[in-house]
Amino acid sequence: MASDISSVLAEDRPDAAASQATLQAAAHADFKQAVLYGLARSSRRLPSRFLYDERGSELFEDITKLKEYYPTRAETALLKTHGADIAQHVGDADILVEFGSGSSRKTSLLISALEGLGTYIPIDVSESYLTEATEWLAPQHDGLTIAPLVGDFTKIDALPDTARGHKVGFFSGSTIGNLTRDEAKAFLLNAAHLLGRDSAFLIGIDLKKSPDILIPAYDDAKGISASFSLNLLTRINRELDGDFDIAHFAHRAIYNEDEGRIEIYLESLTGQTVSVLGRDFSFSEGERIHTEFSHKYSIEGFQALAATAGWRGVTAWTDPDGLFSLHLLRFG
Ligand code: TRP
Repeated sequence: MASDISSVLAEDRPDAAASQATLQAAAHADFKQAVLYGLARSSRRLPSRFLYDERGSELFEDITKLKEYYPTRAETALLKTHGADIAQHVGDADILVEFGSGSSRKTSLLISALEGLGTYIPIDVSESYLTEATEWLAPQHDGLTIAPLVGDFTKIDALPDTARGHKVGFFSGSTIGNLTRDEAKAFLLNAAHLLGRDSAFLIGIDLKKSPDILIPAYDDAKGISASFSLNLLTRINRELDGDFDIAHFAHRAIYNEDEGRIEIYLESLTGQTVSVLGRDFSFSEGERIHTEFSHKYSIEGFQALAATAGWRGVTAWTDPDGLFSLHLLRFG
């Protein structure tokens, strides 16, 4: 039997064109507002969610294959090695809900391990990612209903009515580390509300380690991380009539030991004035625009954070080198 793709993707609905246009207009307004506000502040910042346009998503996919970028490899290995044990700890689950599913490549391993799963709900802002992931997954998992949800996983406030049953959440790639601690707590509270009592939640968390390993992971020798960072300026040029000279900005990744996080910046290499939507922004040499945090946790540190949102840390799996961890949490 082929998989039943009960989709909420725009192409399958009669009102698709209109709502698609509305969504795009809202996304454009959000981008414009965030960029004009973020560049006007004294400490400049551009929210990391804007890194992932089509080109950005491709470049991030390339990052995950770099020898320096260990998180994707380490997490995939954990899912392969401990799939059966993870499934046993999750117990009965009818519905898998994934936050920020991207290409869903790692998820296929989890779906295979979770016998008896009936429905997979991937949530992602990128509709093209969801379509591609659904087409890739469906033939491999006969009988699985795939019900993608287009949206920002920090803003989803309800699952479709059809999503009744025992749920397990999945949030991979240490993406929760890109949120501040307060935002992570808010996300975990909302996830508890969406997944409900007795649900399980599997979360990938990058562990604290030496900057000698961390820095190259975010600033690789081939310069893919730099291209990924700088692509945000290219996106502003294209979508918001900007005139950033990409050659006059550089990607910087630093490890803030006190905060336990990688901080990503775009640094102005010279004094310069840049125009975006007709407004001028002056940069001094060395001035930085913050784009991303990537918080690193200890096992106990993450469990303590989860506990503030009502999630109990049941167990955690780590690789032999202690690079990465997969946490199983339970709510209620
Ligand atoms: N979510 C990724 C992480 O925290 C983001 C990321 C990886 C990133 N490499 C980067 C962001 C380089 C900016 C530049 O691991």
